[in-house]
Amino acid sequence: MNIHELLKKSRSYRRFYEDQRLDKETLTELVELTRLCPSAANRQPLKYLLACSREDTVKIFPHLRWAGAIKDWPGPAEGERPAAYIVILGDTQITKNFDVDPGIVAQSMLLAAVEQGLGGCMVGSIDRAGLRQVLGIPDRFEITLVVALGKPSETVVLKDAKTPHDIDYWRDQQDLHHVPKRPLTELLVEL
Ligand SMILES: Cc1cc2nc3c(=O)[nH]c(=O)nc-3n(C[C@H](O)[C@H](O)[C@H](O)COP(=O)(O)O)c2cc1C
Repeated sequence: MNIHELLKKSRSYRRFYEDQRLDKETLTELVELTRLCPSAANRQPLKYLLACSREDTVKIFPHLRWAGAIKDWPGPAEGERPAAYIVILGDTQITKNFDVDPGIVAQSMLLAAVEQGLGGCMVGSIDRAGLRQVLGIPDRFEITLVVALGKPSETVVLKDAKTPHDIDYWRDQQDLHHVPKRPLTELLVEL
């Protein structure tokens, strides 16, 4: 896949074949890739907590919030939940400001996951206190983002947003997940 195909396929997937588990090696390889990412002032303050056992994924799931725009959907049901998570932590002993580093590494890991036939979703809406407690994360670390991963079981379709307000993603009767993207003409600023 070239970069265009990879980016197009790299959607936010929230439903998975939960039984298709990911092993620690796969997650570790994703983290290894983040060593190639840019980092503000090259501080590299991010650390990673890997979760792929059922015991751990069951603990993490209740602390994540899914697809805020789809009001009548409580999130993935049992059997379609992520098979693994990478919790991206900021090490406050290195810096208190993690800048945009978490987004850069999360997208890099998701692109690599897609290349392997996997997929996932960045989750920023997190019950951080609850997650810290169930995983026993020391105060030294800030919970920045969680990357949910698995073998996607849903189809996501991109479409051009029709108006500047048309940004809510939605599901149709065939259960396809539609994501509006602003057209290029709206992105370019002419001064
Ligand atoms: C920083 C960030 C945080 C996000 N947090 C959540 C979240 O908490 N829950 C969720 O279901 N999706 C979350 N998403 C996914 C977005 O909803 C998704 O990117 C958007 O709907 C566009 O879909 P696409 O990623 O397929 O282009 C997040 C995305 C980003 C970049």
